[in-house]
Amino acid sequence: MKPACSYAATHAASLADPAAFWLAQAHHLQWDKLPTKALTQDKNGFYRWFADGELNTSFLCLDYHVQHGRSEQPALIYDSPVTNTLRTYTYAELLDLTARFAGGLRAIGVAQGDRVIIYMPNLPEAVVAMLACARIGAVHSVVFGGFAPHELALRIDDAEPRVIICASGGMEFDRVIPYKPLVDEAMAQATHQPAHVVVLQRDFVTANLQPGRDLDYQELLRAAPVAAVPLPGTHPLYILYTSGTTGRPKGVLRDHGGHAVALRFSMEAVYGLAPGETMFAGSDIGWAVGHSYIVYGPLIQGCTSVLFEGKPVRTPDAGTFWRLVAQHQVQVMFTAPTAIRAIKKEDPDGLLARQHDLSSLRQLFVAGERCDPATYTWAENVLQVPIVDHWWQTESGWPMLATLVGLEGMPPPRAGSAGFPVPGYDVQIVDEEGAPVPTGTTGLVVVKLPLPPGCFPTLWRDDARFKEGYLSTFPGYYFSGDGGYRDQDGYCYIMGRVDDVINVAGHRMSTGEMEEILAAHPAVAECAVLGIADALRGQVPVGLVVLKDGQAIGEEQIERELVSSVRTQIGALACFRAVVIVKRLPKTRSGKILRKTLRQLADGEAFGIPSTIDDPLILDEISTALQRRALGTAFETSV
Ligand code: COA
Ligand code: AMP
Repeated sequence: MKPACSYAATHAASLADPAAFWLAQAHHLQWDKLPTKALTQDKNGFYRWFADGELNTSFLCLDYHVQHGRSEQPALIYDSPVTNTLRTYTYAELLDLTARFAGGLRAIGVAQGDRVIIYMPNLPEAVVAMLACARIGAVHSVVFGGFAPHELALRIDDAEPRVIICASGGMEFDRVIPYKPLVDEAMAQATHQPAHVVVLQRDFVTANLQPGRDLDYQELLRAAPVAAVPLPGTHPLYILYTSGTTGRPKGVLRDHGGHAVALRFSMEAVYGLAPGETMFAGSDIGWAVGHSYIVYGPLIQGCTSVLFEGKPVRTPDAGTFWRLVAQHQVQVMFTAPTAIRAIKKEDPDGLLARQHDLSSLRQLFVAGERCDPATYTWAENVLQVPIVDHWWQTESGWPMLATLVGLEGMPPPRAGSAGFPVPGYDVQIVDEEGAPVPTGTTGLVVVKLPLPPGCFPTLWRDDARFKEGYLSTFPGYYFSGDGGYRDQDGYCYIMGRVDDVINVAGHRMSTGEMEEILAAHPAVAECAVLGIADALRGQVPVGLVVLKDGQAIGEEQIERELVSSVRTQIGALACFRAVVIVKRLPKTRSGKILRKTLRQLADGEAFGIPSTIDDPLILDEISTALQRRALGTAFETSV
């Protein structure tokens, strides 16, 4: 590892001349054609990185390391307690599988620029599929396995994939979830019809294949290997859908060049990992964390990545993460605070951690939601390593705030804070007019443009939504949708979303989308979905519904029906389990629902009664209704 640079100097250099800073970083990678100019603007005025360079991410993740002495080093360790499987893939093996699968994709008609949806659990075959798409310039879109067919259908119609790659099923603890029927159902709902469905048959569940359309994953592997094609730096690598404020998910786009440069930098500077070391990100390849730190980051850096199929608890116990660290000699681990809370609930004294030799572990990084101080302190005591909370979003693809362990002169992590701006990010806290707020005052979190490489350059086929949703609120700045503050020592705190997005077990969900589903019920006149505090998942959604006049349906029945609708249309992962009937919703005199006030009420935050509210007594009624159902107790007290 190179000697560490100072955080302050690195961050200052990255903001003083972003183009020069990132062009220097780009030189750490092998390009087919080196970029001469780092930063340009496209016809919309959106910033683009490395437009005149050429490279291929699959080459960087695989061929480069095989050519530079890492062919026998483990690239991927697949550890699946739910199927009792442990398999290690060296760089040479992963390259061979990827090159052949890429040949197979090409043989069934997948060309450069075509989209491929991947709907699979955390499996090496899914990683191979991602890298194979990258190899031939196809654009993958991984959809998290917990999403229902309706959500998959929305993504099929938006991405218009040529092929869908799926597994025959997944395993939730000891429950088999067949995936292929979900894909068939999604195809039936979608307008766009992919030419093929490629199915990985797993031992414990066999999928029916439709002759002609459906193909066996193993068949594609029989193709001759193909080489990685040089691609422009701005060529799309993947689309990853994330929840917005409506029912239509947003296709976050990532390109080859900026992504590779940013992830390599982050592996070294943020996580302090050298080539040959081991990272374990306990997430799912369906999320941004999985894309960046199970697959691309570790492989670009020549590290070993642990791919875990299972849950942090009951697989078989709450010590499974610690077993993984010890067994695979993990240096850096990454997970969501909700996973730590799940472990803490089952093993409050951390006894299971003591059964494993955790001496390889240097830090535990957490993200996905704010790490509450109680969880932070518990993890620190149990693991005896620094716990590094760091903040990022699907849109950024890599951390925006962190304690960068690969740079010198960083203040130590502080409980409750996500740290300091990462080089490349000029993070600011502003009020609703865009003026900076004083230290210690909560405001809106924005990042001055240009965003660094790796961040999304736009949304898939929706430049207008990109501009409207992220760039228009504060011209010249990216609006994150989060609220937070900075303390007198410069530490930043991200306190939660200020829009209609909530975080359920580290999964980002749209309350707006749930409201659309609730509003479609014939008995519902109007509704609001709130994220309320939950002991395990951080937040869970609760539906407040006002019934149409003359409707006699009881709370239990409407709850059952609405819970079932959300489960069918979004999926079980939304954890939508409670509905409360209320007489009215708080509105402005012009009839707009006061969502911010409702959020504050649900969070138990102090708030001023808005002067625009038509009837302040409604808030008391809602508060009483939530209390009646014991909804929204703060989680620090309940775990
Ligand atoms: N396929 C099918 N169903 C899935 C699924 C998947 N991939 N993932 C979740 N579900 C289902 C679950 O089976 C469950 O269904 P149920 O209501 O029928 O029981 C529901 O969705 C809720 O799942 P989950 O929130 O995962 O609850 P859980 O009790 O199974 O596990 C935790 C709770 C906290 C252990 C788990 O949520 C967890 O590990 N969270 C960490 C999340 C994470 O790492 N996020 C990444 C962000 S960095
Ligand atoms: P996602 O796009 O799914 O990664 O979710 C991003 C959202 O998760 C952010 O907008 C935040 O609301 C939240 N988030 C992620 N990391 C953190 C963190 N370290 N602290 C607080 N909130 C976080």
